[in-house]
Amino acid sequence: MSQPQTVKIGLLGFGNIGAGLVDLIQQNRQAYLQRTGLDLDVTIALVRDLSKSRLYGGVELTTNPSDIYQFRHVDIVVELMGGLEPARTLVLECLRRGKHVVTANKSLLAWHGKEIFRTAARLKRSVGFEASVCGGIPLIRVLNSGLIANEIDLIYGIVNGTTNYILSKMHQDRLGYKQALAEAQEAGFAEPNPHNDVSGIDAAEKLAVLAGLAFGVDVLPNQIPCQGIERLTLEDIRSAEEMGYVIKMLAYGKQSGRSLDLRVQPTLIPNSHPLANVANENNAVFIHGSAVSDMMLYGKGAGRYPTASAVLSDIVEIARSGFVPSRINDNQYISKLTTQKSRFYIRIDIPDRPGAIGKITTHFGKHKISISHAAADLVKRTGSRGRVTILTHDVSEKRLQKALSEIEQWPDLHSHPLAIRVF
Ligand SMILES: NC(=O)c1ccc[n+]([C@@H]2O[C@H](COP(=O)([O-])OP(=O)(O)OC[C@H]3O[C@@H](n4cnc5c(N)ncnc54)[C@H](OP(=O)(O)O)[C@@H]3O)[C@@H](O)[C@H]2O)c1
Repeated sequence: MSQPQTVKIGLLGFGNIGAGLVDLIQQNRQAYLQRTGLDLDVTIALVRDLSKSRLYGGVELTTNPSDIYQFRHVDIVVELMGGLEPARTLVLECLRRGKHVVTANKSLLAWHGKEIFRTAARLKRSVGFEASVCGGIPLIRVLNSGLIANEIDLIYGIVNGTTNYILSKMHQDRLGYKQALAEAQEAGFAEPNPHNDVSGIDAAEKLAVLAGLAFGVDVLPNQIPCQGIERLTLEDIRSAEEMGYVIKMLAYGKQSGRSLDLRVQPTLIPNSHPLANVANENNAVFIHGSAVSDMMLYGKGAGRYPTASAVLSDIVEIARSGFVPSRINDNQYISKLTTQKSRFYIRIDIPDRPGAIGKITTHFGKHKISISHAAADLVKRTGSRGRVTILTHDVSEKRLQKALSEIEQWPDLHSHPLAIRVF
């Protein structure tokens, strides 16, 4: 074996994922050396609080960021602190100081990727970000190199483990939304403040990164139409099941000619679709490429070791290859209401009165929206609350939104109508 190449690694952040990375390297250093010819060594880590007890030792700790980028012997800096600032400033400074960077931070890339990739390209430094989307699934490498021969026209999937866990609990254990969320928090799959996950922001940030790779567009997360899961009830889950579907939170991107449709939303998936069986915290992504046709990647989208595994793969690739240019996208994405048609599940909460279902179907008829299934649950529940659920035939989102916006003006409505796309 030729002389091993030592790779000195500095961490910006030594929390959950940082600990996983250090543990993997300390446990398997010899095995990695044999496999890669690289002697990986995490030497220094930036933290906020020096007095906090750490799971793994053998790493010098500092609260001074310049110790990381001024450290002569650090070859690769791994950003594992999360958030936008100071992560953005520190990553840019590391690149300027000649370091290659690996990051697991999808928010940073979704909002500031262009600036970071441009800076890296100018300075001939690499930015690895395999861990930023779908944790342990090597999705970024598949898009960046494995499928380089393909035009990708479709990419969609379950990219947020928290919402998939909550929806799985609602389906499998018949829990209401709040109960399922509390269980996800207890199991460590949801943050104490779950807003970014349940509202779809996290998935939109991941989709922004994926859309850059798959479609070559420069898109910010707030340009992606986004619908959360907070309004879903156990009754929606049951109604979907009765119609032969499960509800999944999907990140979806489809290119048709010059039009690109990006969205994050709960979606009714037919029971026969492979995504219907992706349960709990797992992730799965479907890709259609012009040469390979369909493929699906499945696995753990988060967690200490799956994410550290992805970080480590970037470190090895950069240590082997040096400068690997990142893709920079100049095509701006313009979001618009799609003219593409699909079926929709609609729930309208209205008072328990005779003729309620007729009023709704007549209204939809007036808007030329045909209905394939309608059910009324006008049994007396709280007060005189009732509920009508409808499955439409194919309709454009524009037409449906118009019909629903008029229903919203009805004085007797209990809440805004809920519309969920059918895959
Ligand atoms: N957790 C996952 O499953 C997962 C999956 C995929 C991607 N990621 C991404 O991986 C990154 C790290 O996640 P994590 O779960 O490891 O986070 P974490 O446990 O909260 O760790 C963050 C680390 O960064 C340090 N830090 C934060 N702000 C700092 C500041 N201003 N100055 C100095 N140090 C600072 C913290 O220091 P102290 O320890 O002193 O507080 C801590 O060591 C995030 O971008 C996250 O989105 C996480």
